[in-house]
Amino acid sequence: MLRLLILTGLILSSYASKTPIIGVLSQETSRSRNDIGEFQHSYIAASYVKFLESAGARVIPVCLDSRDVQYDPIFRSINTVLFPGGAAYFKERGGYGEAARKLYNLAKAVNEKGTYYPIIGVCLGHEVLPYADKGDDIRTDCELKNVAVPLKLAADYEKSKMFSKAPDEIISILKTKNVTYNFHQCCLTEKTFRRHKLLPEWKITSTDEDINGIEFISSMENTRYPFYGTQFHPEKNLFEFKAGIGIPHSVEAVKISQYFANFFVEECRKNANRFPDHDLEKRTLIYNYQPIYTGINGSVYEQKYVFAKSDSEKSEL
Ligand SMILES: *[C@@H]1O[C@H](CO)[C@@H](O)[C@H](O)[C@H]1NC(C)=O
Ligand SMILES: *[C@@H]1O[C@H](CO)[C@@H](O)[C@H](O)[C@H]1NC(C)=O
Repeated sequence: MLRLLILTGLILSSYASKTPIIGVLSQETSRSRNDIGEFQHSYIAASYVKFLESAGARVIPVCLDSRDVQYDPIFRSINTVLFPGGAAYFKERGGYGEAARKLYNLAKAVNEKGTYYPIIGVCLGHEVLPYADKGDDIRTDCELKNVAVPLKLAADYEKSKMFSKAPDEIISILKTKNVTYNFHQCCLTEKTFRRHKLLPEWKITSTDEDINGIEFISSMENTRYPFYGTQFHPEKNLFEFKAGIGIPHSVEAVKISQYFANFFVEECRKNANRFPDHDLEKRTLIYNYQPIYTGINGSVYEQKYVFAKSDSEKSEL
């Protein structure tokens, strides 16, 4: 009997790590961009969900909660958290920055105890990483809006986790083609990282320049923990099409996005967390929500998931 239980446990835990569930953090809806009505409290752009699903993961929404929740129960049931791009103030009570901070610190603590727990940040989610870590907003003003560029890979990129297993074709595309899509007015720089003693714990894996020649960190990884950030948007090449804006959709652009999706999801497979029961898992997955076609009215996101305040209570499990 005991042997059977152990065997079942082993099968379940290896099953769990092969079919990761990733929490995507929602963000507050700014009033000026409330394109779907008063009821919405926070949203997730559907492109992040599809991006992770395209690499074999499932997603649950981690809804913002203005009450003082700690996000622990949901954190213990999932294999990673992704902080998506967008626009949000970091210091707002109950907002995106505060939630990112709590989740980041939970991830740091479990990694310290030997559990592999990745964190992924894209654009705003990349910019929030130093804030989540130390509580300082160290962003620099810089502008690169609606521009796709190649990456200037770091001299030792081959030693990074992010690129050490990348096929030659992917490296060659990343180095030479306009495939990493940028839309940001803030950035992180090596100079501020040095000043705030974030180096060498963070390893800069690539840089780029904004329209004024400011060199910014376009991708990075943490050397102590499996934490990753990209200033560019890998999800947009695959899933965002707003007419008239320069998101690349060539086969090369698609391939690099698929590379990042596979890399991130493979990192999540190394974590064996799972939901305490299947019913709870089913009730929590993002399949319980319907995305809305917001692109029809000019949103930069084709589709969004929107959440009411009451949805955050469900995230408490
Ligand atoms: C788009 O705009 C129309 C007209 O204002 C409105 O009726 C509709 O609900 C909007 N749809 C979305 C998804 O925002
Ligand atoms: C990339 O875009 C820049 C302009 O933003 C252009 O000058 C350059 O030729 C493009 N490079 C490639 C490889 O398409």
